[in-house]
Amino acid sequence: MNHEVSGFSKLSKIEKINWIAQNYFSEPKVAVALLQNYWNSDEKLQQLHDEFIENTISNFYLPLGIAPNFNINGKNYTVPMVIEESSVVAAAAKSAKFWSNRGGFKTTVLNTEKIGQVHFIYKGDTSKLDTFFKQTKSKFYSETESITKNMQKRGGGILDIVLKDKTSDLENYFQLHATFETKDSMGANFINSCLEQFAKTLKAEAQNYAPFSEEEKNIEVVMSILSNYVTNCIVRAEVSCPIAALAEKHIENPTEFAEKFVRAVQIAEIEPYRAVTHNKGIMNGVDAVVLASGNDFRAVEAGAHAYASRNGKYSSLSHAKIENGIFSFWLEIPLALGTVGGLTSLHPLVKLNLEILEKPSAQQLMQVVAAVGLAQNFAALRSLTTKGIQEGHMKMHLNNILNQYHATGEERIKVLEYFKDTTISHASVAEYLELLRK
Ligand code: MEV
Repeated sequence: MNHEVSGFSKLSKIEKINWIAQNYFSEPKVAVALLQNYWNSDEKLQQLHDEFIENTISNFYLPLGIAPNFNINGKNYTVPMVIEESSVVAAAAKSAKFWSNRGGFKTTVLNTEKIGQVHFIYKGDTSKLDTFFKQTKSKFYSETESITKNMQKRGGGILDIVLKDKTSDLENYFQLHATFETKDSMGANFINSCLEQFAKTLKAEAQNYAPFSEEEKNIEVVMSILSNYVTNCIVRAEVSCPIAALAEKHIENPTEFAEKFVRAVQIAEIEPYRAVTHNKGIMNGVDAVVLASGNDFRAVEAGAHAYASRNGKYSSLSHAKIENGIFSFWLEIPLALGTVGGLTSLHPLVKLNLEILEKPSAQQLMQVVAAVGLAQNFAALRSLTTKGIQEGHMKMHLNNILNQYHATGEERIKVLEYFKDTTISHASVAEYLELLRK
């Protein structure tokens, strides 16, 4: 069956739903009812969500959970997390509690610079382009004044613009490489608007630059866009304590634990197959807070993994050591985040989450996110190097299995009792339910 459609975006919401239902479902009414079931009964609220994107047909829920007791630089944070994976919030909360009794998380924002580039093709004499750039540089600032005025009032703006010669990598390829400070906003619109104006100025000024030949005047701007590789927008989070203080229920021998833990981190430092999963565990925490605070988790993901490869080989974002009897574990991660603009003032739950975080500045949010990433990584490595992750994970996942089999209240009680001391697997739960139902 050919499902091609023209003018889909012009259909009303209900027409779009009907089109989907009729084209893809044997029982269209059931599909329509399900999609409508997820609508919010508050029409205004629903319209707000509909308008975040295009062609909206319904809402797609993700759970919002809370990880309390994050002691970060001596301040207690209650952290909202949006994530679909069971165990993540529990693990964050467990680590937070563990470290709150051992000095808490120490975090520092190392820098907050954002980057954007105008990529262009110039066919001609490089030294002439250099001189042209030097003479024109002030125009890039003056012609973006209407865009930068407000940002400057908030203490931000364009930090610098440099001309980069990339012709050794690609013929005739140059860049205007600009750096920005965007304070509490993520700054994507601000940066892209500046860049598009730089591109206009570049083209117009080149046309009027007498020393250029006709070919040199015809600069071709390929694109103007921010970079999500924010190598100078880095936050560091660290935990540390004397080895003996690590002792706990599942850490009977703290020295052995610390040494094995450090070895696990070293493996992630040198082995990319492990590093990816290790960093994925960090991103479980990072993305959940990034989403809850209305930030762009794809941007953060792209930047974090590129940063993990900055030395030419994909490696761990976190590190650990034992020195003079002290166990230290830390993380450095690029995080371009905002607490104003974007979704932050639009999405009611994002606003609520930022209130739970006590209206953080972008720098405070960076620190919370990094601490949660480190906490998540600690929890994963702690489980992996001791009893393994499946026991805890399957316990948390048990509910999902029970839901899948539509277990009744009575069955749930029996299953929970039975699996208290029995290894949980999808098959074993299914089998036990089958037995109960006989
Ligand atoms: C699962 O979502 C994350 C872990 O695989 C992370 C890790 O292996 O470090 C447990």
